[in-house]
Amino acid sequence: MKAAYIEKFGGPEVLTYGDLPDPVAGAGQVVVDVVAASVNGADPKVAAGDYKQTKFPLILGRDFSGKVSAVGDGVSDLKVGDEVFGVLETGRDGTYCEKLAVGANVVGKKPAGLSHVDAAAMALTGLTAICAVENSLQLRRGETILIQGGAGGVAAFAIQLAKHIGAHVISTCSTGNLDYVRSLGADEVIDYKTTDFTKVVKNCDAVFETVGDDVATRSFAVLKPGGRATFIASGATAPKPERSDVTALRPAVPRERKYMERIAELHGKGIVRPQHVTLFELAKAREALNVSAARHFKGKLVLKVR
Ligand SMILES: NC(=O)c1ccc[n+]([C@@H]2O[C@H](COP(=O)([O-])OP(=O)(O)OC[C@H]3O[C@@H](n4cnc5c(N)ncnc54)[C@H](OP(=O)(O)O)[C@@H]3O)[C@@H](O)[C@H]2O)c1
Repeated sequence: MKAAYIEKFGGPEVLTYGDLPDPVAGAGQVVVDVVAASVNGADPKVAAGDYKQTKFPLILGRDFSGKVSAVGDGVSDLKVGDEVFGVLETGRDGTYCEKLAVGANVVGKKPAGLSHVDAAAMALTGLTAICAVENSLQLRRGETILIQGGAGGVAAFAIQLAKHIGAHVISTCSTGNLDYVRSLGADEVIDYKTTDFTKVVKNCDAVFETVGDDVATRSFAVLKPGGRATFIASGATAPKPERSDVTALRPAVPRERKYMERIAELHGKGIVRPQHVTLFELAKAREALNVSAARHFKGKLVLKVR
């Protein structure tokens, strides 16, 4: 099969496009013929060696949408031909390719009304947003939330989910993405190129932080006493707040079929629409990784595999 993979750690230039062996379905697994795979903020970090995987060749990518082409022993709830989408098990990478083997228990049925491209775009982003907003922050109607990095993939899903819950949503992005982030439903959008969010946002009940570095640590300042912040771009643990009257959280992001079903439900009810997508052919995965690594774009970068 064709795949985009690395054989050593480095920048996007180490990503190679070529042939690797087809996977086979082990017990409890299905093989998926990938139609689309998305590029996530984690992928340049994996390429750089931040996650310490050492087995080469290493195919990048964490989420996918496609069609089941083989079923392993013990799988009774999926069959050949089913259209599915999902996120690989925690700690695994390998969706920038034509075929992948994955546990049937983490895969969801792709709704007919959702394209493969949009399903791939919403898989890891939707999973992460649901885990952060519903499970970690337990956001409630009437609360005010600051969602950092509104133009990114996870934040786009989170903004829509937070609006559905009934929160007042404030978000941040660069000048060129202001209209896009407003179109997702954010009540207030701050241009971080011209305005320091700590000067204009205060008394938030919650923060969902998706940018990292000093944006993460400075986000504590906008919380009211008793407020909570959850972080996905600061590594495996939340940064430590300098003040003692707020809570710093790091969401667990478990791979389970129920989250794919929740994404499908939220999309089916019209609560969450897909992010803006920029498409790349699988053979051009390196270009997509370059854009992702630069960290300034709109919505999702998706690889069209077949
Ligand atoms: N399981 C997990 O823990 C998990 C899952 C998914 C993602 N993540 C992490 O979450 C982060 C976000 O991932 P993602 O895929 O949604 O997006 P991403 O591709 O990493 O982020 C790109 C976005 O960040 C925005 N951005 C960059 N600097 C900013 C700043 N100073 N203020 C506000 N926005 C800024 C950019 O918007 P502008 O062009 O407008 O600057 C761009 O749209 C990544 O670090 C990723 O590794 C963790």
